[in-house]
Amino acid sequence: MVEGINVEVHRDYKYTIDVSKGILDKLERYRNLFFRYEKVVIITDENVAPLYLKKVERQIEKFGCKTQEIIIPPGESSKSLSMAEEIYHHFSEYNLTRSDAVIALGGGVVGDLAGFCASTYLRGVDFIQIPTTLLAQVDSSIGGKVGVNLTKGKNLVGSFYQPKSVIVDPRSLKTLKDRIFNDGMAEVIKYGCIYDKTLFNKLYQSTAEELTKDLENTIATCCSIKKEVIEEDERETGLRKILNFGHTLGHVLETYFNYQKYTHGEAVAIGMYHITVKSEKKGITKYGTSDKIKEILIKNGLPYTMPYLEQEKIEEILFRDKKFSGDKITLVLLKEIGESVLYSMDKNQLVEFII
Ligand code: GLY
Repeated sequence: MVEGINVEVHRDYKYTIDVSKGILDKLERYRNLFFRYEKVVIITDENVAPLYLKKVERQIEKFGCKTQEIIIPPGESSKSLSMAEEIYHHFSEYNLTRSDAVIALGGGVVGDLAGFCASTYLRGVDFIQIPTTLLAQVDSSIGGKVGVNLTKGKNLVGSFYQPKSVIVDPRSLKTLKDRIFNDGMAEVIKYGCIYDKTLFNKLYQSTAEELTKDLENTIATCCSIKKEVIEEDERETGLRKILNFGHTLGHVLETYFNYQKYTHGEAVAIGMYHITVKSEKKGITKYGTSDKIKEILIKNGLPYTMPYLEQEKIEEILFRDKKFSGDKITLVLLKEIGESVLYSMDKNQLVEFII
């Protein structure tokens, strides 16, 4: 195994998250990994391909491993069953076998879609994550949630399928537009809120320059938190639910506006603030917590105000949430910054909390 954050999801399944500046130019570190495969199929999108695809291919081919590429249009609409079907056709055209591997090179859409195809083709071929957005580096590339959307909702079809390795190059973030970088910052802030007061305070107190300098450590901290959480609860029966802080309302906002108005992180940002205002009023959360969240969101160019929503439409989206188990859903609230608590509630209580 290469050096990095070692994840041990089951006793017999381990992989490494390697957070390292410039790693995309030093893939020889992965010689032993790629050496095992006859070929790899790299799935990426039209934005990422011109930046990193050739560089990655050239290095992997040096290990005697053939490469094939699949380039998809960017954006959430690619995370569909029809795109998955197209990818399966390419896999069979390339004669992908179980001694080959799939690489996801890109953001969350590419990672979730490529992982889903890898998990289902031939009942599972090896899969390697090379996330290139902040959101994918700190969240979606780790923990094995892969899937596609249906018109009725996000990630409704999917599986838990852990990668063989996660290769994170913080330098790839330099090419991101501010809005896409901030999208990932919402998840970084979330980790501080639910699990790590020291991380929250660092984000709260540091200047933008200090944060940029320390980005590699910040990413590694988030990956370590996610590792701890998924090692304890891969299948989201308990602890992993805390990662959904701000996501119940966030999901409503994304769906309500058809994924056009808010990025995932922006929707989660509003969700985290709004739910904390409510829980603070109910005396569950320490007074002043929501104000701190608001300040940190503003500092990171993220929204916090709720737009106008029609109640009937909210309920329709809310009650379809895949996190429902029977008529109960678990909402993640904060006791204070760095400490979260799970609240199981029925639909009426949820509506009262959310709206
Ligand atoms: N993004 C939430 C999770 O991986 O559980």
